[in-house]
Amino acid sequence: MKFFVDTAEVNEIAELNDLGMCDGVTTNPSLILKSGRDILEVTKEIANMVEGPVSAEVVALNADDMIAEGRKLAKIADNIAVKVPLTWAGLKTCKVLSEEGTMVNVTLCFSANQALLAAKAGATFISPFIGRLDDINLDGLDLIDDIRTIYDNYGFDTQILAASIRTVNHATECAKIGADVMTAPPSVIKKMAHHILTDQGLDTFMKDWAKTGQKIL
Ligand code: E4P
Repeated sequence: MKFFVDTAEVNEIAELNDLGMCDGVTTNPSLILKSGRDILEVTKEIANMVEGPVSAEVVALNADDMIAEGRKLAKIADNIAVKVPLTWAGLKTCKVLSEEGTMVNVTLCFSANQALLAAKAGATFISPFIGRLDDINLDGLDLIDDIRTIYDNYGFDTQILAASIRTVNHATECAKIGADVMTAPPSVIKKMAHHILTDQGLDTFMKDWAKTGQKIL
């Protein structure tokens, strides 16, 4: 499973990128707001740093303006994936931009039918939002599973980009189901390294090592 980093914070992306833990980046208007940066400027900086796809989201609501915004965002760098919402206008934009050879990430997906439409419109990525479904007492992971089944039934090559990942368990379950990509905040990716038994085991080793009185360096 590929890891995309869900942030517009350049320093956090750089750290994960240097570790080989960043196969791409996703941003959205809320993350741009949080970064305090100009969208065109920060997207360019990220796209130059990371080899994989960098999603930048359109904000127009009608197809003509979305297409124009998408074309402008796509010009920033070759690895830009234009992010469009899963609305009828977003699907039209997806069709046009994907036929022009631009990667398109269709976002705000909350149902299997929406994912089916995105695949038929030529989406490179579909972004089902797990955490936001969990927030309203639905099972976001069931949605990932359903989309996996449907895409495999018909051989769609749209990649399932599991989004709104809030917990390390979401990451495990997405990998088990076979999501192609997950996008998660840096904090969740870092938490995947943690285990209480690792901490306890290391503590014991350190105490025993101190008792030996030895040094390696
Ligand atoms: C990524 O593409 C999404 O914008 C992001 O994962 C949403 O996550 P949230 O529901 O935690 O805001």
